[in-house]
Amino acid sequence: MRWAAALPLALLLCAVGCGEPTTAPDAPAEEIPAPPEAVPEPAPAPAVPVGNLRGDAASGRELYALYCATCHGQGGKGDGPAGQVIDPRPRDHTDATYMGTLTDRDVYRVIEQGGASVGKSPLMVAWGGVINEQGLRDLVAYVRSLSGT
Ligand code: HEC
Repeated sequence: MRWAAALPLALLLCAVGCGEPTTAPDAPAEEIPAPPEAVPEPAPAPAVPVGNLRGDAASGRELYALYCATCHGQGGKGDGPAGQVIDPRPRDHTDATYMGTLTDRDVYRVIEQGGASVGKSPLMVAWGGVINEQGLRDLVAYVRSLSGT
């Protein structure tokens, strides 16, 4: 009788405590290999940083020439060779009236996550996988300099 009464208690204690020795890590953390393939694909949209997003405009100009000018034109007027044959046309970054409606975070987000992420053309692709955070900040600074906003 006493044994029968003690059994549920023993099971309960075991449910709470018996798992611990096997789950406790017995290998040092540095021996556990990092599984890069465990990163989910597609990854959720990264959060846009807060604070000052304007990096170095001169570096941004070089990135712009490399990645953006084919569509937007080096001067940012939306008149690059590829930009002339797509619809909608690339945004004119010298248009202060329009660009003034966008915050730096808006500009950063559309460059990082693409036009589709903000309900605009998917032809404005996401550059977050190609250009690192500093590069994105530099591009924000350069794009801003084109309109003086
Ligand atoms: C394949 C052509 C193409 C390339 C390359 C391209 N864009 Fe665009 N971009 C577009 C188009 C098209 C739009 C207009 C989207 C719309 O208005 O729906 C646009 C819009 C934008 C906008 C304005 C978004 C808004 O909210 O109105 C910004 C800022 C921008 N692009 C920055 C860049 C930067 C920086 C690069 C280079 C890293 C780049 N784009 C490369 C086609 C391109």
